[in-house]
Amino acid sequence: MKIDIITLFPLMFEGFVNESIIGRAIKEGLVEINIVNLRDYTTNKHLKVDDTPYGGGAGMVLACQPVFDCIKALKSENSLVIMMTPQGEVHSQQRAHELALKNHLIFLCGHYEGFDERIRSIVDLELSIGDYVLTGGEIPAMAIVDSIVRLVDGVIEKESHEYDSHSNWMLEHPIYTKPREYEGMVVPDVLLNGNHKEILKYKKIESLRRTYQRRPDLLEKHELSDDEKEYLDKIIKGEL
Ligand code: ADE
Repeated sequence: MKIDIITLFPLMFEGFVNESIIGRAIKEGLVEINIVNLRDYTTNKHLKVDDTPYGGGAGMVLACQPVFDCIKALKSENSLVIMMTPQGEVHSQQRAHELALKNHLIFLCGHYEGFDERIRSIVDLELSIGDYVLTGGEIPAMAIVDSIVRLVDGVIEKESHEYDSHSNWMLEHPIYTKPREYEGMVVPDVLLNGNHKEILKYKKIESLRRTYQRRPDLLEKHELSDDEKEYLDKIIKGEL
């Protein structure tokens, strides 16, 4: 998979592409990430990429020319161009799974007041990371690219993301590591007894409990199995 990230602040991505799981995925050739400086594409002799908004208003607006030329240069037949904007669809685990299957993603990060509206005509998808406004699209792009790259085959063990929170519209069950007891708090016995059937049942029940308590809205989208219906019913009645 190839990912291009168009930005006016390439240095913001240094740690992102060099460290941890993303850094390793790049080194192992599982994913290619190119940080593209939008300023390299301006034809303005002062390297300007933005201008004041028509009709007045605060701040500067990213102009069409550098963005159109940059995307034209990067795009091929099967590229998907994604704009980072608080006006976009809120990103989700489902969307991350879908994007992890693509060959080439181009992320466009805005800064300042936003984009000239005509830029939207060359964008395939607009994504937001939540209902709040950041100073630019760089952090949203990192968040979204991270959520995608970890799902690319070979980046992390499949088992590690099979039970992720939000996969299947459920939050993950509680997890523990050594020691068995810490400051009087103990690991549930069922996780220590090696009975895999019991452990799976525990995980299913605790995942349901957590989702019901913290994000009941997700349960409306999750298709409950007969087992899960029975467990949830008992959780709600306080019998489990
Ligand atoms: N740019 C500024 N705020 C943003 C947000 N919440 N999501 C995506 N891009 C943004």
